[in-house]
Amino acid sequence: MNFSNQTPDLVNRKAPLEIQGDEFRKLGYQLVDKIAEFLDGLPQRPVTTDESPRAIRKLLEPDILPEHSSPANDLLDEAADLLFDHSLFNGHSRFWGYITSSAAPIGALADLLAAAVNPNVGAAVLSPIASEIESQTIRWIADLIGYPRTCGGLLVSGGNMANFVCFLAARKSKATWDIKDEGMSAVNQRLVVYASKETHTWIDKAAELFGLGAKSVRWIATNANQQMDMSALEKQIMADRAENHLPFLVVGTAGTVSTGAVDPLPEIAAICRKYDLWFHVDGAYGAPAATLPDASTELVGLREADSVALDPHKWLYSPLEAGCALVRNPYHLVETFSHHPDYYNFDGIQEDPTVNFYEFGLQNSRGFRALKVWLGLRQVGREGYIQMIGDDIALAQALYKAVGNYPTLQAVTQNLSITTFRFVPLDMPNDDPTSVESYLNKLNEELLNSLQKSGKVFISNAVVEGKYLLRACIVNFRTTLSDVEVLPEIVISLGSKLDSEIRPKSLQPRN
Ligand SMILES: Cc1ncc(COP(=O)(O)O)c(C=O)c1O
Repeated sequence: MNFSNQTPDLVNRKAPLEIQGDEFRKLGYQLVDKIAEFLDGLPQRPVTTDESPRAIRKLLEPDILPEHSSPANDLLDEAADLLFDHSLFNGHSRFWGYITSSAAPIGALADLLAAAVNPNVGAAVLSPIASEIESQTIRWIADLIGYPRTCGGLLVSGGNMANFVCFLAARKSKATWDIKDEGMSAVNQRLVVYASKETHTWIDKAAELFGLGAKSVRWIATNANQQMDMSALEKQIMADRAENHLPFLVVGTAGTVSTGAVDPLPEIAAICRKYDLWFHVDGAYGAPAATLPDASTELVGLREADSVALDPHKWLYSPLEAGCALVRNPYHLVETFSHHPDYYNFDGIQEDPTVNFYEFGLQNSRGFRALKVWLGLRQVGREGYIQMIGDDIALAQALYKAVGNYPTLQAVTQNLSITTFRFVPLDMPNDDPTSVESYLNKLNEELLNSLQKSGKVFISNAVVEGKYLLRACIVNFRTTLSDVEVLPEIVISLGSKLDSEIRPKSLQPRN
């Protein structure tokens, strides 16, 4: 519809969003120059700027939808400055919070290239080369971790979605009725899933959203190393069968979100075989470490799983977003997700079948996430990943050792590339352990907040056996030993200052 009085010139149409080659080139060069400078200067910047949401919002005023056009070079310049000056940088060498990696620069360029061509990787006919690159990426990720390359799989937005895809395939495969036709209410029998208490919260969402209900999750106890207790698992399965519930899925975690613990995967596989259950491994964080020549037997057990979730945007260092679901038998994905509506003409020919990724997961139209993962794998190869993942683990181990050299720090756990510890002042009284523990939790929580705001380093927290811990997760190819070695001093300096300010009188040293 044309609201102006002029007749539109549809022959020489000039769309306001179009940017012609020469201008695009100029804008692109300018932006890439700025990004290169930003990446070089990252070490000199604070990890984060500790500004309030209100202050940040103010930068975006006036909050009025633009009515008219603006020059693209000004906009890109301004957007780059906003991002460079008001972000938290997970690409900084001293960022070790949560499980977010430094992003490979080739991934940033890959995203630009993917967006420029903009294939819709929902159907092969809409993305001929992109669909094949995604298929190859899936095979290579499987090769990397030693999973069968004949598996099915696809790239999704992250770990939650990858686990959901596998969860849904497991539900379809193991329900004893036609769950797609009849839904969850057809049978008066509860489908039951088993996961350790350390499992990431995706399992809550999956149980709630996919019709099982939160009560269907059996939270299996863990041992002193935060690994699933196998006898508790088997006991619970037998109890549920005796109650006429329908156990269908066991989730093993390869690198728990809090401490990086790896469940005893080969033993879980054996229990799943014994009771005919789907064995899923949440390897969102730790699965890539299975490529290391000295990977533990426990971790390598992921090769026996019916499905594996793994996040390239964690330990393959892809820029956000990139998760990956692998399912041993591709048929289970198609059986769960495929539909063939009349308005699709995607089937191709029988002698040379196409891969239509919309049939493998929840999305229909899909972006070309695979390109950044594929280019990362090609740029450094398995060798490069072995080096980077191995170095991250060695640095986390060095941190654990360094922490042990300070009397006011208590090293608590070290698994994969996660180290946890806490600050414990030397002069705490020893006659009231309950009050001391409660104060140490408060002190370390406040210490974490101060550390995060300081901009000097960024770590996160874990709670293990009721203890509030500081947690460094190194999935960062920019981190060096000197970065890691400054952490204890920073923690002690901030911790001592805080302790002198907030310790209650009742816990002060008595003369
Ligand atoms: C073990 C594990 N599973 C799943 C997830 C969720 O991944 P995402 O945040 O990419 O959805 C995480 C995130 O840290 C994780 O550590």
